[in-house]
Amino acid sequence: MFLKRTHTCGELQKADAGKTVILNGWVDTRRDLGGVIFIDLRDRYGFTQVVFSPQDNAEAHELADSLRSEYVIGIEGLVHERDETNVNPKLVTGQVEVHVHKLLIYSTADTPPFEIEDDIKTNEDVRLKYRYLDLRRPKMQHNLMLRSKVAQIVRNYFYKHDFAEVETPVLMRSTPEGARDYLVPSRVNPGSFYALPQSPQTYKQILMVSGMDRYFQIVKCFRDEDLRADRQPEFTQIDVEMSFVDEEAIYEMAEGMMKNVLQDASGYELPTPIPRMTYQDAITKYGSDKPDLRFGLEFVDFSEIVAESEFRVFAKTVEDGGVVIGFNVPGHGHLGRGIMDRLTKRAKDEIGANGLIYIKNNEDEVYSSVGKFVSEDTTLKMVEKAGCDKGDLIIVLAGPKKDVYGHLGQLRLIMGQEYELIDTSKNALLWVTEFPLLEYDPESGRYMAMHHPFTSPIPEDLHLMETDPGKVRSRAYDMVMNGNEIGGGSIRIHDRKLQERMFALLGIGEEEAREKFGFLLDAFRYGAPPHGGLAFGLDRIVMLLTGSRSLRDVIAFPKNQRAQSTMDNCPDVVDVRQLDELHIQLKPGIKFGKS
Ligand code: AMO
Repeated sequence: MFLKRTHTCGELQKADAGKTVILNGWVDTRRDLGGVIFIDLRDRYGFTQVVFSPQDNAEAHELADSLRSEYVIGIEGLVHERDETNVNPKLVTGQVEVHVHKLLIYSTADTPPFEIEDDIKTNEDVRLKYRYLDLRRPKMQHNLMLRSKVAQIVRNYFYKHDFAEVETPVLMRSTPEGARDYLVPSRVNPGSFYALPQSPQTYKQILMVSGMDRYFQIVKCFRDEDLRADRQPEFTQIDVEMSFVDEEAIYEMAEGMMKNVLQDASGYELPTPIPRMTYQDAITKYGSDKPDLRFGLEFVDFSEIVAESEFRVFAKTVEDGGVVIGFNVPGHGHLGRGIMDRLTKRAKDEIGANGLIYIKNNEDEVYSSVGKFVSEDTTLKMVEKAGCDKGDLIIVLAGPKKDVYGHLGQLRLIMGQEYELIDTSKNALLWVTEFPLLEYDPESGRYMAMHHPFTSPIPEDLHLMETDPGKVRSRAYDMVMNGNEIGGGSIRIHDRKLQERMFALLGIGEEEAREKFGFLLDAFRYGAPPHGGLAFGLDRIVMLLTGSRSLRDVIAFPKNQRAQSTMDNCPDVVDVRQLDELHIQLKPGIKFGKS
């Protein structure tokens, strides 16, 4: 038996009063008032209050007595307008209730391990283990619906602009792009492995060589890397590649996509073009390659002012090639000693700074935490350079360039967050451009590609490739939103010779390059168009749009911090026979599969 619904639980209005309707859903809350049972019935669309009273139907009322939370039921009843005192303005359906004359219980339910309610304080592991219950919460349903909507907006946008959606393989050759690959052993090719794609990078470039011209794909990517709130081992990219373009065409296309997404998914009007900032500027002004521009606190360089200072820390830092930098926090000169001591401790313990110096420009005095050692004249010059008005606070760090920008960047974020200087009603989007081509990895003693090895150097810097590789800038760009990297890409190398030079720089010998990337180099022999593209992190975009703190809140079945899914208990040991078929033997000491 089944009662086919006529309406959803988020639909009935005053105008429906008098209709006989059928609703299906889950029992959310239940109240008994003087022999009458009130139930909030819930489905993806909302809640509707349904009422069981002996007067309406004695049989349904009696059966309703057995209803518990999360039972799945169907009801048939008459829609009544609620009298004014009982209207619930918080519910879309709050003006009506349904008086039931027929009840069918489809499924009973055990008592759930946590309440199906938003803002519950339940351990995340429990939520993930019972993900099907967690996903019943209105907030999670909203997140998944919004995600689906964003995917739809993105598809429509790219179809409208003549992009072809092409699926690229999930089983591919291992071409590490920075993170570790997930490997898949081949049964029919003993000793050989596929890798799961970290991104479809090589395929999309080959599609350009194939003449596809404009490609996009909403695609799963896999990276075996340390997890954080904004990183999942399995995540989704909106992957894009275009032929015969420069940066401008890609910026325009990507901005158009974000404009559509923000407008249609959250009603936010994104002004375009979005601002651009070089990597160098982002680091020296905000201490981050993904600065949050919803607030100021731009860095000021005091090095010149303090170079001759009596204070050894200042003078020696500058002498050793380091910098003394800081930022002005308007209106926070009143912060007391205790607060500043705690901030200093955080700077040392959490961020790794050597110490923290501050100046408070208050009505009665200009106070410097190192006033004993620094002349008043120097302090006043710092106050002036920082544009520090009465009532403001300056925070200063001194140290080697490689550390101090990053440290001050973290302090800037702490100040922004703790003192609510961030305008959360704003969305600040930004292109960060001209990333260095390479970064030096002290561990392996060689240069690594900062974006990936297929990224084109800036033509003016080509002559530095062999002589001063660390100085070469690339044609790579990231899109940043509210301090998060939401996308990244580059103009690619389409010239085989230049690609070989790049591999050489990365310490990838000719033979290794042939072995790893021979297929791409071969493809370039047969007419490669100039091309470029980028990939957005879909999960991150949805995380920001929904105001979620973690990617786990916008992915239906995410992995936890240990890269596990506790709901279906994976990864797990496997049957010995499965390993046998794959020609795999575990190292001694590693727990063997189930047999
Ligand atoms: P990149 O590695 O910068 O570029 O990735 C593109 C975007 O994907 C998102 N992202 C992630 N999201 C969740 N979890 C992760 N572990 C994760 N890693 C990355 C970020 C990032 O900006 N092939 C190139 C793109 C290109 O050059 O076209 C690439 O993958 O939002």
